[in-house]
Amino acid sequence: MSGVSFSKVGVVGLGTMGAGIAEVLARGELAVVGIEINRDALERGRGHLEKSTGRAVKRGRLTEDGQRAILDRIALSTDFGDLADCDLVIEAVPERLDLKRKVFAELDRVCRADAVLATNTSSLSVTDIAVSTGRPTKIVGVHFFNPAPVMKLVEVIGTVLTEDGAVGRVADLVTALGKTPVVIGDRAGFVANRLLFGYLNQAAGMLEAGHATRDDIDAAMKVGGGLPMGPFTLMDLIGLDTCLEVLEAIYAESRDRRHAPAPVLRELVTAGLLGRKTGRGFYSYDAPAEAEAP
Ligand code: 3HC
Repeated sequence: MSGVSFSKVGVVGLGTMGAGIAEVLARGELAVVGIEINRDALERGRGHLEKSTGRAVKRGRLTEDGQRAILDRIALSTDFGDLADCDLVIEAVPERLDLKRKVFAELDRVCRADAVLATNTSSLSVTDIAVSTGRPTKIVGVHFFNPAPVMKLVEVIGTVLTEDGAVGRVADLVTALGKTPVVIGDRAGFVANRLLFGYLNQAAGMLEAGHATRDDIDAAMKVGGGLPMGPFTLMDLIGLDTCLEVLEAIYAESRDRRHAPAPVLRELVTAGLLGRKTGRGFYSYDAPAEAEAP
C-alpha cells in the first residue's frame, strides 16, 4: 500500500472490534497476525471474520476468491511470540485497565523496540496504558467505530508522551485503508464518544422519565434526525456494557451530569442484557448478534 510505513500488523483480541479491525487491515493488503487468549476464543474470532466477509460475498461486494485472499492474509495464533516481527500492533481486548496493562507488558517484551503499539480503547486513558510500558513514545490510541469494516471514522490519539512520528504514521495508515483519521489528545471519550454518549444517555433518561416510548424515541431520531439508527438500536449494537463503561469514564473525568449513566442502563447491564450480543438489551433479538436491528 503506497504511503504506508507498516507492513505487518498484529491485532490482539478478536472480538467484534478486533476481528473487524483485522478484516480492515487485511482488505488493505497488509499481512495481519490475529492473537487470542486460547483456542476457543481464536475459533470465535475466525467465526467473526468468516461471517463478516461472507456477508460481503452474499451481497455481491466481494468474490469468494477475494474473501479467501483476505482470510489468508490473517494468521491466527494464541502465541504472542508471533508478533515479534510486526511493526504495529493494535490491542482490542476488553476494557479493563489491568488487562490492557498486562497485554502491553507482554507486547513490550515480544515486539521490536521500534514497533508502534496502539490501543483501541474507547474509555480508558491512553496515557495510563503508555506509562505502564517501557516505550511510552510509541504508544497511540486508534479508535475504530462499530462495525469497523463499515464505519469510516478512526480517532488517532496521541498522549503528551507520544512522538509525532508515531501519530502521523498511524494516521497515514488509516487514510490508506480508505478511512478518515482525526487526531485527538487523550481525553475521556475523545471527540465522537464525548458528543455521542451525552445524546444516548439522554435518550435512556427520557425513556425512564416516561417522556416517550423506546420505539417513538428511536423513530424520532431515525426518521426526523436522518440517522441510520435510533439511540436504543444503536446502544444495543454497541453493547450496553460498553455504553456504561464509556459513560462512567466520561463522567469520572468531566463530572458533567449529562454523562451520569441513566439507571436503566446499569440495571440492564447488571441483568446481563447487553444488547445484540446477548440476544436482548433494549430490544429482543432472535439469536445473539445475528438479528438485524428492529
Ligand atoms: N460487519 C460488516 N459489515 C456490516 C456489518 C457488520 N457488523 N453491518 C452492516 N454491514 C455492512 C453491510 O454488509 C452493508 O454493506 P454494503 O453496503 O457493502 O452491502 C452495509 O454495512 C449496510 O448494512 P445494511 O444494509 O445491512 O444495514 P444498514 O444500512 O442499516 O447499515 C449500519 C447498518 C452500517 C450498522 C448502519 O445502521 C449504521 O451506520 N449505524 C450506526 C452505527 C454507528 O453509529 N456506529 C458507531 C457506534 S459508536 C462506537 O462504535 C464507538 C465505540 O467506542 C463505542
